[in-house]
Amino acid sequence: MATITLDVDTTTGSHPHAKLERWVEEVARMCQPARVHWCDGSKAEYESILRLLVLIGTAMPLDPVKRPNSYLVRSDPADVARVEDQTFICARTKEQAGPTNNWEDPEKMKEKLRGLFAGAMAGRTMYVIPYSLGPIGSPIAKIGVEITDSPYVTASMHIMSRVGRHVLDVLGPDEEFVRGLHSIGSPMTLNQPNRTWSCNAENKYICHFPETREIWSFGSGYGGNALLAKKCHALRIASVQARDQGWMAEHMLILKMISPSGQVKYMTGAFPSACGKTNLSMMIPTIPGWKIETIGDDIAWMKFGADGRLYAINPEAGFFGVAPGTNMKSNANAMRSITRNSVFTNCAMTFDGDVWWEGMTEDEPPKVVDWLRRTWTPNIGRKAAHPNARFTVAASQCPSIAPEWEDPKGVPIDAILFGGRRAGIVPLVTEAFNWQHGTFLGATVSSETTAAITGKVGQLRRDPMAMLAFCGYNMGDYFSHWLKIGKRADAKLPKIFYVNWFRQDQNGKFLWPGFGENSRVLRWIFERCDGKIHAKETPIGRIPEIADLDTSGIDLKGSHVEELLRVDIEGWLHEVPRIKEHFAKFGTHLPDGLNDELKALEQRLQAAQK
Ligand code: OXD
Ligand code: MN
Repeated sequence: MATITLDVDTTTGSHPHAKLERWVEEVARMCQPARVHWCDGSKAEYESILRLLVLIGTAMPLDPVKRPNSYLVRSDPADVARVEDQTFICARTKEQAGPTNNWEDPEKMKEKLRGLFAGAMAGRTMYVIPYSLGPIGSPIAKIGVEITDSPYVTASMHIMSRVGRHVLDVLGPDEEFVRGLHSIGSPMTLNQPNRTWSCNAENKYICHFPETREIWSFGSGYGGNALLAKKCHALRIASVQARDQGWMAEHMLILKMISPSGQVKYMTGAFPSACGKTNLSMMIPTIPGWKIETIGDDIAWMKFGADGRLYAINPEAGFFGVAPGTNMKSNANAMRSITRNSVFTNCAMTFDGDVWWEGMTEDEPPKVVDWLRRTWTPNIGRKAAHPNARFTVAASQCPSIAPEWEDPKGVPIDAILFGGRRAGIVPLVTEAFNWQHGTFLGATVSSETTAAITGKVGQLRRDPMAMLAFCGYNMGDYFSHWLKIGKRADAKLPKIFYVNWFRQDQNGKFLWPGFGENSRVLRWIFERCDGKIHAKETPIGRIPEIADLDTSGIDLKGSHVEELLRVDIEGWLHEVPRIKEHFAKFGTHLPDGLNDELKALEQRLQAAQK
């Protein structure tokens, strides 16, 4: 692996990236790494980093026949998920960060961080990773540079974004780029025992400085805390850029649906973590003749085109998907994507050198090595894979990837979906009356918590637009930004829908089969976008007529369909004060448009009750 030293005379300003060079030097002075490596993004570089990870025991190569060029990484139990309570938006004022974010004064936080970062990379290599979010050169794409002392992060960034020298070729000398500084916070000292996963469990700080477009992340080497291009840049910092520049950075999948006659609709969808978003983006429809292709599974950046439509790109280049529960039934395209060239984190390992996780196969293997390297057998009373175990793979390996997924101009969006996990009251699908009502539906998204974040599993939390953990500014102002987007004079806006695959009967059984059958709901949405199919007006929005939901060929009782589409007036009247309580958190930042929607909903429900 070539080590490139800082041999450029930055004082003359002759180098096109003098600003970047100066920052790298500053960071090197503060963090004191043993060496600095500028990433070129090559295959050889990726391979040499993985060789290093194997050498130090962080990664284990999988069986080259069963899973060619693939690795299993096991982290530390203290570093397995995003840490929301240690994630900060360091805007100038607490009000700018808003009620849903942790806040600290930028200068105070920087002072603390400077202390932590001082000498933090001693003995380690400092990698400088220039990356592009979105196809290089796309008018919607943005450039960032992550500095990290983690080879695992560097290898993952190779898969998850477009990395290397060619990124710098399109970065002008005065152009803005997002600065991401990351350290696992574990300097190498002579008397420190070798660990296969180093982190700093006591001091984790994931800090965003929106005004200066900076990210400082300390102590964790895991996923969303450490791959700074993902949640930190593509959502938290980008949401602020989007607000300032009139576009949208959203926690949304992007899919393409093709009808039997070859017509195409593009949809984006926001769902709280682990609600089946990756599965939906790669779904294989069960209705004959229909096809789904994938553009992205987690993040969408949308900008108005000259024709007034919103065009979306996937800023990422890979998938960092939750492994447990992924199988040939829930997501065959993901399973086929990860047959090779993949990195698995915190999965279990089989005795023949492959990976395994709960739900991967119908029958459990008789014995595996669990993610903590212990022998595991069925009925042992603990999970073999960590519930937030992940696969990391290039999007280009996905069999359902759309040919235009890297089109620099993006794809024009016809429909935006919101959804969450709700056992009661929320129907299978509801169409918003208009953009403002759709924004209201998005602002009220709620779901049960999952293993993607640390904390309690199974609690109901409001997660507006699935952006609760990812909005880089005051969420009340973020709602206003949504409403402003809808007011653009020449806008040809997508329709907005709310879906709930998780409604249950009185016995706690799911009413809807989900997975590929969700295509039946997407078909209704597709046809609504064309105005080809009728919808029923109800107090909560527009709902399909029972006969219009294609349920042919599935074993679904008529009463189940009725229940799935039933508008529970009493239930919704109970929901109203809960939404009021949720909205109250935003105080004067809550836009009037959302209060108006809440009042109108209550009135419609009261009228329907009489
Ligand atoms: C994720 C998430 O994508 O938590 O990892 O949303
Ligand atoms: Mn996500």
